[in-house]
Amino acid sequence: MLEFLKSKKRTHYANKISKKNVNDRVTLMGWVHRRRDLGSLIFIDLRDVTGKIQIVFHPESQKIHTKAGKLRNEFVIAVTGRVILREQANINPDIATGEVEVEADELLLLNTSEPLPVQINENILAEEDLRLKYRYLDLRREKMKNLILLRHDIVFAIREFLIKQDFYEIETPMLMKSTPEGARDFLVPSRVHSGKFFALPQSPQIYKQLLMVSGFDRYFQIARCFRDEDLRADRQPEFTQLDIEMSYITQNEIFNIIEDLFGYIFKKVIASDLPTPFPRITYKDAMTRYGTDKPDTRFDMELNNLSEILADSEFKVFNTALENNGSIRCIIAEGCSNYSRKQIDSLIERAKHVGGKGLAYTKYEGDEFQSGISKFLSAEEKLAIIKKTGLKNNDLLLFAADNDKIVFKVLAEIRNYLGAELQLYDPDQFNFIWVTDFPLFAFNDEEKRWETAHHMFTLPKEEHLNYFETGKYEKIEGELYDLVCNGLELSSGSIRCHRLDIQKKIFDVLEFTDAELEEKFGFFLNALKYGTPPHGGIAPGIDRIVMLMSKAQSIRDVIAFPKTLQATDLMSSSPAEVSKEQLDELGIKILPKQHKSE
Ligand code: AMO
Ligand code: AMP
Repeated sequence: MLEFLKSKKRTHYANKISKKNVNDRVTLMGWVHRRRDLGSLIFIDLRDVTGKIQIVFHPESQKIHTKAGKLRNEFVIAVTGRVILREQANINPDIATGEVEVEADELLLLNTSEPLPVQINENILAEEDLRLKYRYLDLRREKMKNLILLRHDIVFAIREFLIKQDFYEIETPMLMKSTPEGARDFLVPSRVHSGKFFALPQSPQIYKQLLMVSGFDRYFQIARCFRDEDLRADRQPEFTQLDIEMSYITQNEIFNIIEDLFGYIFKKVIASDLPTPFPRITYKDAMTRYGTDKPDTRFDMELNNLSEILADSEFKVFNTALENNGSIRCIIAEGCSNYSRKQIDSLIERAKHVGGKGLAYTKYEGDEFQSGISKFLSAEEKLAIIKKTGLKNNDLLLFAADNDKIVFKVLAEIRNYLGAELQLYDPDQFNFIWVTDFPLFAFNDEEKRWETAHHMFTLPKEEHLNYFETGKYEKIEGELYDLVCNGLELSSGSIRCHRLDIQKKIFDVLEFTDAELEEKFGFFLNALKYGTPPHGGIAPGIDRIVMLMSKAQSIRDVIAFPKTLQATDLMSSSPAEVSKEQLDELGIKILPKQHKSE
């Protein structure tokens, strides 16, 4: 069978054949996408990685005509024939090769196929679980194939751009010592050193900094990262970052490079012009205006703080919130005063789902506040609200009152939901925004200790260094930035601590003992002693970039072989048990599953 492949070569890919090839003799190889028997004529749509082309079998070539009649969908064939122009009436505008077809005179069956368990036909979409089980077939669908090829184009453009800008692509280890990024590690037991473990990298953070110590100056890597955390539509346990680090660099210079990089990719891959520079917003402003550090800036509907106006409110929910040092904030859904009770109840459910106790509302119609909490509002309060919010007739007001954390979470959720529901933006628009000046630390209320809000290698702002002495850690901001687009966090980065004394201050706040520090980071702290240049970097998430550029709804759609939301691979049925011999070699014994007692 393969002898054939030695003598007969594919001359063209399906999509590459056009009017220019008329009368050429071509050989194509691919799948039978569809077969139509029109009595005497048999038509096959042959599909390969580039697309489809129609092949015609005439009854005059009796031998291959009979063979063609036996072809079934997804059989693999090689066809040789002459390219001819279709008659005007038969032109198919739906496919790129619709003006031509190939008149076959040779046909070779290279393989058969059983009927497929998932359909490749675009209109019939199987359940996602079945598609994931047969992922290799699902990837034959044009839409899925195009997403994977788009990803290829994006990664290629990234490499092209960065290498031209004097970056070096350097690989870092997969088996490493755990780097704390905030999620759980995936551990890999060592056979040779029984009882010891490697961790898979949550990111190459420490290594990229060490590469700056080594002197590589500008590094990048298309790096696989592993994090054992709760999954969502935009999160996978293994995902890919474009990891970048540079020496002697400022935040502004990093922004310029990343803006140029995104500009280049968007232009080259999807012919979209991104206006640069991207706007910037501080973390504080993002929270007060949008309730989130990843604001979707394609629409307004900003939050209004009504705590002062409603300081003496008669409404108990509002009072209680203020008494507990919380706030009262509202958003205005313009023109939504006609929302039904049912629609409002579903907004309330949404608020509760993200941790809110409820969502208070009122409507403004005919120059009057009506229904909901209107009865609790005094005339002065009403006037002040109108003035502050720019309220107009037929608007719906939605209030959250609680501690700031909950208020922001609830209103950001409702705002994002309404933005999509009310179609407040053009889905083809890309609104990039830099979020800057993040706090360096966050207090973990449950464990009663300080944590770093991002990661522990970020340089504190120079003007905030004195807060280390005074213990006002909540006031310390870092040289930290995120790049957000349409409400999706695309990238995160920072300028790093290149000085050992400052890095040590951070570890002190995190309450590492000297022994822990030595054990966990000894090698890294040691490296900082030997002439570390100032450096900084950023890591855009590649899966999320592809999602954004393709408008895919799920991160799974842009990864060739993704995991489910339960972190399993349905195709290979993993994770899976391993043999006793394998476990014995590693000195590992599996205990019966323990249920959390606390
Ligand atoms: P961070 O943890 O913020 O930073 O990650 C950077 C970017 O990676 C993407 N990302 C993910 N994508 C898919 N699934 C996940 N589970 C996931 N987690 C993160 C996001 C995010 O913005 N070392 C630092 C970067 C640095 O400081 O240079 C880091 O990893 O797009
Ligand atoms: P309740 O007093 O719990 O019956 O709530 C009265 C109204 O206030 C309902 O519409 C609730 O959804 C709303 N509500 C309750 N708690 C809050 C809160 N923390 N913030 C905003 N609205 C709330």
